[in-house]
Amino acid sequence: MATSNYKIAVFISGGGSNFKAIHSAIQNGDIAAEIAFVLGSTKNAGGLSYANQNEITHFVPDAEIFTDESVFAELLLQKTKEYDVKLVVLAGFLKKIPARFIHDFSGNIINIHPALLPSFGGKGMYGRHVHKAVLEYGCKISGATVHLVNSGYDTGAPIVQRSVPVLPGDTPETLAERILKIEHEILPETVAAFAADKIKIDGRHIYIE
Ligand code: GRF
Repeated sequence: MATSNYKIAVFISGGGSNFKAIHSAIQNGDIAAEIAFVLGSTKNAGGLSYANQNEITHFVPDAEIFTDESVFAELLLQKTKEYDVKLVVLAGFLKKIPARFIHDFSGNIINIHPALLPSFGGKGMYGRHVHKAVLEYGCKISGATVHLVNSGYDTGAPIVQRSVPVLPGDTPETLAERILKIEHEILPETVAAFAADKIKIDGRHIYIE
């Protein structure tokens, strides 16, 4: 497979299905980029075995690093520089990114959130909690958002959003499954746009040309 000089890093905490979707899109030639490394927040992150099987560099920092913002920021700055990473992709990553890293890395950090932000976002709003809240509210649609990461929780400018219907009888699990399918579309599409330099940013208004 041809290598690309547009390097990305993918951060995961869970099964890594979004990470796998990005890797598949790269292998299919839909994304002109290369995954320089995967960072796991825990050794139990299922996506790490996929990285291992596909010979993608991966590592899990010691747990205490995530509670020391300055040490975590230093590690991220060092690793992204060492691997010449241009874009950091948070794909189900449950740890907060240090503000210093966001500032020093000049902002090319994106996150996928399984709801239509600003609704149902913020601290504690992840995974099943999101879909449970959407159903309890009685929403008729939900969806997913890829957004720039800033120092808040899920408050960065949206880049791509896509909706799905909420159906009668939905459970958090059935809704999560329907949303995950479009996550696997919009995150690779966004990474491809970054790699092709097609992202245009005007304040909080971001477009893919
Ligand atoms: C996804 O629902 C994503 O929106 C959220 O966490 C989940 C991660 O799933 N941030 P996976 O690890 O990519 O399978």
